[in-house]
Amino acid sequence: MLKCCINPSILSADFVNLEAELARISNADAVHVDVMDNHFVPNLTLGLPVVERIAQVSPVPLDAHLMIADVDRWAPLYADAGLASVTFHVEASQAPIKLARELRARGAKAGMALRPATPVEPYLDMLTELDMLLIMTVEPGFGGQSFLDVTLPKIRRARAAIQGSGANVAIQVDGGITEETITRAADAGANIFVAGSAVYGAPSPAEAIESLRAKGQLAFG
Ligand code: DX5
Ligand code: ZN
Repeated sequence: MLKCCINPSILSADFVNLEAELARISNADAVHVDVMDNHFVPNLTLGLPVVERIAQVSPVPLDAHLMIADVDRWAPLYADAGLASVTFHVEASQAPIKLARELRARGAKAGMALRPATPVEPYLDMLTELDMLLIMTVEPGFGGQSFLDVTLPKIRRARAAIQGSGANVAIQVDGGITEETITRAADAGANIFVAGSAVYGAPSPAEAIESLRAKGQLAFG
């Protein structure tokens, strides 16, 4: 049976009090850090020096989601910062296989992200190069958007292809994950769930994590 992981996104946290905000999610499986450069997406968040510092104080491993251009140059530096997992967007990479290998060689799990309208089929032959496939369930750039049900068939096809390949690849979904949508995403085959507003918008982020995890796990049967 798949293990259900909840990775809260600090995009919805208080950026002035990050250390305290991290302490509120110490029961999470990892913390999802959204790096945006105002080129790949129309928003700007934080960069390598801040992520390096977050990694030093976080009670849980870091899961970086790089929504940046020129990712072939930048992503390896995030792996060098000791992050557990580094995810790049395939639309921003010139050489995704080379990049995935570089991330693994530097000790990070290699994640590859697809925007909602990017098909998974062209990349099925490279599943063995990846530890995680991130299927975006909103257009990347902002927290608080609604889950796109149109991505569910892609999650299903990706899970079937992973099972067929025998590769050990997690499927992460990111965007609009709530107590309601997590069941649909888990049914379709996702097993790592990023939640920003559903966790940090709750009175108790730690309780929101437990509740989301229970819902996701239930869907796995
Ligand atoms: C959006 C980011 C997400 C975002 C999710 O581009 O990649 O990680 O924080 O936020 P919610 O859970 O509020 O949709
Ligand atoms: Zn993200």
